[in-house]
Amino acid sequence: MGSIESQPVAARLSRSAIFIVATLNEGEESARAVRALCGDLPALVRAVGFRDLDSGLSCVLGFGSQAWDRLFDGPRPKDLHPFREINGEHHAVSTPGDVLFHIRATRMDLCFELATQIMSRLAAALRVVDETHGFKYFDDRDLIGFVDGTENPVGEACVDAAIIGDEDAAFTGGSYVIVQKYLHDLDKWNQIPTEKQEGIIGRKKLSDIELDDAAKPPFAHNVLTTIVENGKQLEIIRDNMPFGSVGKGEFGTYFIGYARSPHRIERMLENMFIGNPPGNYDRLLDVSRAVTGSLFFVPSATFLDSVEPDEAGPPASPAQSEGAAATPAGSQRPRSDGSLGIGSLKQEGQNE
Ligand code: HEM
Repeated sequence: MGSIESQPVAARLSRSAIFIVATLNEGEESARAVRALCGDLPALVRAVGFRDLDSGLSCVLGFGSQAWDRLFDGPRPKDLHPFREINGEHHAVSTPGDVLFHIRATRMDLCFELATQIMSRLAAALRVVDETHGFKYFDDRDLIGFVDGTENPVGEACVDAAIIGDEDAAFTGGSYVIVQKYLHDLDKWNQIPTEKQEGIIGRKKLSDIELDDAAKPPFAHNVLTTIVENGKQLEIIRDNMPFGSVGKGEFGTYFIGYARSPHRIERMLENMFIGNPPGNYDRLLDVSRAVTGSLFFVPSATFLDSVEPDEAGPPASPAQSEGAAATPAGSQRPRSDGSLGIGSLKQEGQNE
């Protein structure tokens, strides 16, 4: 039996990211198109990523609870369920999401090209409910000015945090992921004195050094998100990204957390939104509002590779192309010579 390969959950080198959350359209055709993509995804990533091998282009594909049953027969990942909303001191909303694409690279153009290629195949099968383009900000800071990601586990600890072992034998090598899009009230945040902000996060703002335990308020973000069960700290892998739109006054953090069980992320969320004990909630939420919330299962790469396209084959997508350039419906499509025909007055098919 060959070894099981995981999806690039712990991929690094990510200066840019695109997060796409989509719902699966009605009909077996839609499910068939998504299944057909599963085995082809690595080839798409290779084709786009080959343009710059140092870009570290990667894509993780996840499936929501309801979509799983429409897409796959057989056993279900045992902890897969829809994201549970939390109504505590603050509200963690649960929003629709059947499919997640988490695309990362050092270059946004490659992320964009891959996203376009994927969606050109799935335009008729999926409805994108949220697409967020994230970027790294100075020193890996989020838009509230703190370095984000420091305490992520690395190496073995990373695998131990995020990758399912033999606790769910049919899905070894898989992972769970929760995404939430947060919008910050930066004016309000910037009115809080730096020292108080440092208490809210639990770290020094400029140096990123962790505060002494004695100096941390009980509601510090890194106190509430430290989960210990049976004497063991239960870690997750985060790859949060700032995003925003200056014109709209939108400044946010896209939270993404991978774990071998959603339980530990859910406990962090309860501590943040309800408080631990209740009422001792995360003060970050007084200035940051969660506007989305979804949970997905990330099967192993080996599982994706084993998904056979249905006998009827993938539905013919008008936008599907052989060219390297992206061709979403309605956009300029590559000519048969592979060019985009830019600068040419001739339309495809003319004089041919
Ligand atoms: C507005 C959204 C959020 C922002 C701006 C934010 C920011 C930060 C920052 C600045 C740190 C300290 C540096 C680091 O270790 O990365 C941190 C740590 C952490 N955050 Fe968040 N975070 C957010 C949401 C969340 C959510 C929703 C969770 C989990 C459900 C979470 C889990 C963690 C964990 C586990 C740590 C490391 C704690 C430790 O071991 O020290 N964060 N976050």
